[in-house]
Amino acid sequence: MSTVNDDTTAPKSGAPAAPTTGAPTAPVTRRRLLGTAGAAGAAGLLVGGGAGAATAAAARTEPTALSSVGTGHIPFEGARQAGIVEPAQARAHLVAFDLAPGADRRAAAGLLRRWSDAAREMTREGRPTTPAAYDDQVADDAGPSSLTVTFGFGRSFFARTGLTGQRPQALAPLPDFPADALDARRSNGDLWVQIGADDALVAFHALRVLQKAAHGTASVRWQMNGFNRTPGATARPMTVRNLMGQIDGTNNPKPTDPGFDQKVFVPAGGSAGSSPAWMAGGSYAVVRRIRMLLDSWDHLSVARQEKVIGRRKSDGAPLSGGTATTPVNLAAFDADNSLAIAGDAHIRVAAAASNGGAAMLRRGFSYHDGIGSDGSPDAGLLFVAWQADPMRGFVPVQRKLDGSDGLSRFLRHEASGLFAVPGGAGPGEYVGQRLLEG
Ligand code: HEM
Repeated sequence: MSTVNDDTTAPKSGAPAAPTTGAPTAPVTRRRLLGTAGAAGAAGLLVGGGAGAATAAAARTEPTALSSVGTGHIPFEGARQAGIVEPAQARAHLVAFDLAPGADRRAAAGLLRRWSDAAREMTREGRPTTPAAYDDQVADDAGPSSLTVTFGFGRSFFARTGLTGQRPQALAPLPDFPADALDARRSNGDLWVQIGADDALVAFHALRVLQKAAHGTASVRWQMNGFNRTPGATARPMTVRNLMGQIDGTNNPKPTDPGFDQKVFVPAGGSAGSSPAWMAGGSYAVVRRIRMLLDSWDHLSVARQEKVIGRRKSDGAPLSGGTATTPVNLAAFDADNSLAIAGDAHIRVAAAASNGGAAMLRRGFSYHDGIGSDGSPDAGLLFVAWQADPMRGFVPVQRKLDGSDGLSRFLRHEASGLFAVPGGAGPGEYVGQRLLEG
């Protein structure tokens, strides 16, 4: 699942919403241009930059220059943290940490300072650097490779640090969904870090540096490793496929959509009741490890698989007609008078229209951890959904999916977390400073 939207007509939902986000900046290679703005948006930029329509058309069809991957740069500093609206990278580590016994608010503040400083260095444009105390030279020779490091707080963090009065109401525990099969040891946690990069060594290096910087203050509670398609692997930028083979991310909200910011980010000053002021510019991440029961899924015919989702497998077009970017028509009927998008099709049950407008930005990563104890692939989706309030995003949609989604027969939710991801850090600041020093 990705925020990257399809193809030549739609701007990618991963494109930065505003200059205040961690928008990729120079060097603006063709890959980054296409990879973040979407082909249509990129075409517009090229034309606006003085190049002709022919150049734009050529840019749309030319494959990515592989040498550009390392140069991708997404600034760490900004009013919002990076790693939310940008296209999901090729590699990811999702890691939860628990504070060490006795680590208090002051210790937590020191940790967030060390982590932010290290992330700032490692994401530096051109030649990134690493605080010498933590370096292992694993990322030597590589550029920043679109590295992002995103920090969040779990519910348990607030009691551990004496900050219960600052805990957002929106961080209430997620409800129990009847079909959940959650492993508590791989769920929740005091702190959450999302690392994404288009290079595996750069991602690993960032993880090791943050682990070393946490030494004595916090230790890893769980770690999940994910991946997406590598930039440049397709002839043109495309929405990614998940491990069921579906094009996934097509109907994500786009930063250019009216109301996008209100859906995804907490407004300035916080939001009435559910989010305190220190969360301004932040978002809530719901993280679910969703195992795909691939052996059962693979037994279905492609036609059946398409009915389960409501979109064609080949190109992601909705079964109500048109192309991938054609709006879904939930009221359309087939010639035999049956609903074109079945009553239990995933895109019908998950649609905002079926859930009182509930929406979220899905930005996940596939995972594959070998063969499970049941003899089938331990593989699926590290689902990460971003929203201004989980009660108006993930929760109502998952409630509906849990009971009536045809896809749920082929899934198992194995781990879950909800994290408050504060706004970004400015120069000299660290992420979470407004909470920890407020
Ligand atoms: C492994 C689990 C899942 C798979 C394989 C999956 C796959 C898909 C696919 C292929 C689409 C259609 C393309 C697109 O618009 O992205 C889709 C749409 C969507 N999914 Fe999922 N999904 C999964 C889990 C979830 C969960 C847990 C939620 C939320 C609780 C969710 C919410 C949505 C939404 C909101 C849409 C857009 C529906 C619309 O067209 O308006 N999905 N998903």
